[in-house]
Amino acid sequence: MVYGLGIESSCDETSIAIVRDGKELIALKVYSQIDTHSPYRGVVPEIASRAHLEKINSLLSVCMAEAQISFSSIQYIAVTGYPGLVGSLMIGAQLARCISLVHSIPIVLVNHLEAHLAVIGLERELPAFPWLGVLLSGGNSSIYIYKGFGDMELLADTRDDSLGEAFDKVSAILDLPYPGGPSIEKKALSYERPKGEKSPFPKLLKEDGPDLIRFSYSGLKTAVLYYLKSLQGNPPIEKISYYFQKTAFELVVRNIGKAIETTKIGTVVAAGGVLANETLRSLLLTESQTRPFQLYFPQKKIYCTDNGAMVACLGYHLWKEKKIVGLDFKVSPKRNFEQIL
Ligand code: KG4
Repeated sequence: MVYGLGIESSCDETSIAIVRDGKELIALKVYSQIDTHSPYRGVVPEIASRAHLEKINSLLSVCMAEAQISFSSIQYIAVTGYPGLVGSLMIGAQLARCISLVHSIPIVLVNHLEAHLAVIGLERELPAFPWLGVLLSGGNSSIYIYKGFGDMELLADTRDDSLGEAFDKVSAILDLPYPGGPSIEKKALSYERPKGEKSPFPKLLKEDGPDLIRFSYSGLKTAVLYYLKSLQGNPPIEKISYYFQKTAFELVVRNIGKAIETTKIGTVVAAGGVLANETLRSLLLTESQTRPFQLYFPQKKIYCTDNGAMVACLGYHLWKEKKIVGLDFKVSPKRNFEQIL
C-alpha cells in the first residue's frame, strides 16, 4: 500500500490530504479563506499567502492525526506547483521541502488544473485516456485534450473572464454575497420562469462556427449591467440570476459538443469550482445522455473546489512514473508545464 501526502495552497484554500494508492481518501483538511477575502469581493494575494502560512502547519498535524499515520509511512509528497498565486504556492512548496528534507520523502510537483480533473480517480476507476478536460473555475474556462498524466493540450480557452469570475462579478453587480456562484445559484433556483418568457440576454458568441471553440463571459456581465440600468423599481434578482446561468451554461454545453465533434473524443471530465452548481451538473448529465458521451465530474462537492486530495491523487500517478523533483524545484503562476519542469 502506498500512502501519499497532498499539499494545496495555490489560491484561497489551504488543504492537506492523505490518500492511499491514489484512489482512497484517508484524511482531508481544507481551510477556506472565503470569509477573509469577502470584504474585498476577490482574493487578495498578500492576505492569501499570510493566511496559508498561519494555517498550514496545524492542518498538517490534524490531518496526520486523523489518518493515524506517521511520516515514516508516507511514500511521496505531492504539492501544487502551478498555476497559482506565487506567494501562496511558495507556502505549500516550503512545507513540502521541509518534510522531504527531514524525512527523506520524494516530492512530485502537481499541475493544479490537471489535479482538478484527475480527482475523479478518488470516486471511481479512471476512464482510459484521452479525455476532454473541461475546467470551469474562478480562473479558468477551458477545454483540454488530456492525453495522459502530465500531458494536456489546450483546445479552447476564454477570451476574457472565466465562468467563475463572471459569477463573482455579476453577483457584485446584483449586490449578492461573495463568492458569486452559490449566491446566484440560490436565487436562480428560486425563479419560476413563466411559460414562453424570453431571455433578456443574447446568446453568447453566436457568430462562432463549428470549428471555433472559445469562451467569453465579459459581454454577458455587461448585458446584465445594462439590463439592470434599463429597469425601474426593485430589480428581479431571481430572474436575472436564472437567465445569467442559462445563457452562461448554454455556451459550456455548446462548446463541449463542438469539442467532441472536432476531436472525436467521447470521454468528458468536467471539474473546477463551478461544477458545484446543480443546474450545470444536471444540464451536462442530460446532454451526455442525448448526444451521447461518457461524462464524469466529482460527485462530492468538496472535490470541485481546491483541495489536497486531488493533489495527492494525481501525485500518486506521477510518483509511479518517477516524476520526482529536487528540493530546488520552482513554482509558477503559469499553466505551461514545460517552462518550469
Ligand atoms: O475552482 P475554484 O474553487 O477555485 C478557483 O478557481 O479559485 O473555483 C471558484 C469559483 C468561484 O468563482 C465561485 O464563484 C465558483 O467557483 N463557484 C460556483 C459555485 N460554487 C463556486 N459557480 C457557480 N455555482 C456554484 N454553486
